[in-house]
Amino acid sequence: MIRILIIYASVDGQTKKISEYIATKRKKTENEIITISIENVESINIDEYDEIVIGAAIRYGKFNKKIYKFIEKNKQLLSSKVNAFFIVNATARKRGKDNPSTNSYAAKFIKRSQWQPQNIAIFAGRINYSKYNFFDRAMIKFIMKITKGPTEQSTNIEFTNWQKVDEFCSILET
Ligand SMILES: Cc1cc2nc3c(=O)[nH]c(=O)nc-3n(C[C@H](O)[C@H](O)[C@H](O)COP(=O)(O)O)c2cc1C
Repeated sequence: MIRILIIYASVDGQTKKISEYIATKRKKTENEIITISIENVESINIDEYDEIVIGAAIRYGKFNKKIYKFIEKNKQLLSSKVNAFFIVNATARKRGKDNPSTNSYAAKFIKRSQWQPQNIAIFAGRINYSKYNFFDRAMIKFIMKITKGPTEQSTNIEFTNWQKVDEFCSILET
């Protein structure tokens, strides 16, 4: 039996959705899989797991600080297990900005965390204006405008390429 823990930092739900998708994909009778928010991770003993996957969303160019804190605290433990990291952001909707060597958030994360995950993936997230407050909506609209993305108020687009998520799952299986 392989015990897999998927930890996510998600605000609007897309990183959580991807985490749950990975969990479903990796579910086999001999696997035990748990998905948990970074907010609740203190409540479990992570050492009980053989594999740890961490997913984090980007907001205003940044990762949730709790992700860095978690990694700082558990770096050695993480290195002793099969581990992987995935980043969810809107920039990755663009071809050529959707892999760890071209999406700047991967380099930023590795530099700051000083943790080199065994596997790292970049997934495009979702833009859903109806979920954002006034300030965020205005900011995202502006960013979308300058990066030639959708600016319609009614936009609710999932940019996630699920085939890429499947490929990530396959890599983790091997
Ligand atoms: C307030 C806000 C700020 C964002 N900032 C960025 C950003 O700086 N760079 C980027 O590529 N995507 C950015 N995004 C897009 C998010 O990364 C994307 O919507 C992702 O799906 C969010 O994940 P979550 O639903 O798990 O929170 C931003 C989205 C919001 C709502």
